[in-house]
Amino acid sequence: MSLTGKVALIAGGVKNLGAQTALELAGVGANLALHHHSSLSQKDAAALQAKLKEKNPSIKVAIYQGDLTAASAVTKLFQDALQDFGHIDIVVNTVGKVLKKPITEISEEEYDTMFAVNSKTAFFVLKEAAAHVSDGGKIITIVTALLGAFTGYYTSYAGSKAPVEHFTRGVCKELQSRRISVNNVAPGPMDTPFFYPQESSEAVDFHKSMAMDNRLTMIEDIAPIIRFLCTEGVWITGQTIFANGGYTTR
Ligand SMILES: NC(=O)c1ccc[n+]([C@@H]2O[C@H](COP(=O)([O-])OP(=O)(O)OC[C@H]3O[C@@H](n4cnc5c(N)ncnc54)[C@H](OP(=O)(O)O)[C@@H]3O)[C@@H](O)[C@H]2O)c1
Repeated sequence: MSLTGKVALIAGGVKNLGAQTALELAGVGANLALHHHSSLSQKDAAALQAKLKEKNPSIKVAIYQGDLTAASAVTKLFQDALQDFGHIDIVVNTVGKVLKKPITEISEEEYDTMFAVNSKTAFFVLKEAAAHVSDGGKIITIVTALLGAFTGYYTSYAGSKAPVEHFTRGVCKELQSRRISVNNVAPGPMDTPFFYPQESSEAVDFHKSMAMDNRLTMIEDIAPIIRFLCTEGVWITGQTIFANGGYTTR
């Protein structure tokens, strides 16, 4: 199914899973409004723009920057994209932050940051998406396989991603009459720079051993699932799709 003429806004859209999702959606013709956060991600944005041009020279691509933990920044991102593209049909939110620590060592500041990035940002992206995505559109938030696992030390990470499942269920009902599907995708431990800093080599081996082929989830395993939700998968809504090679039971 083609997405020619459609506009996909990807929050956290210039590197790792966000960039792979951009390439995947460009392959089926979507125009792309790509957000990044840090100034460091600017070079990722430039590299991705070159790759996208090669993959599909006929699509329009625009890049936006912002710290989306402020609701006003989320509103500005949507307003800027609407001004440039005229409409938004797909929203994919890959924004996330991980912390692996015993609960006894987590400060109030760390708790607030984790919930600001993982819950508050997801909530206000859903709010703006609900207000602006065209009828028949698609909204997808990236959560984590840890929502289906008993695991210590990720309490603030999994705990701050967990509310998104309920945000998604509620918004899916609110948008049902406009045929907008609203879902989450929950990857297993994924082979990106997001994953490694908090893991020992033994922990990496353990995570690998929990999935088929004794490997981590790859961004190439996940981006086609996001494309499917944006194309043939229209009947799926209000769900969290766990894609982790058997890492968890959900
Ligand atoms: N890698 C894994 O093991 C794994 C497994 C399961 C789920 N996930 C989830 O998958 C998603 C993508 O992860 P990834 O592995 O592709 O790593 P990633 O590229 O580092 O994704 C995280 C994104 O969040 C953005 N971000 C962080 N703070 C932000 C803020 N205040 N405002 C706006 N954006 C902000 C980052 O931008 P900057 O880097 O510019 O700050 C980055 O684009 C995340 O939601 C993560 O929780 C990852």
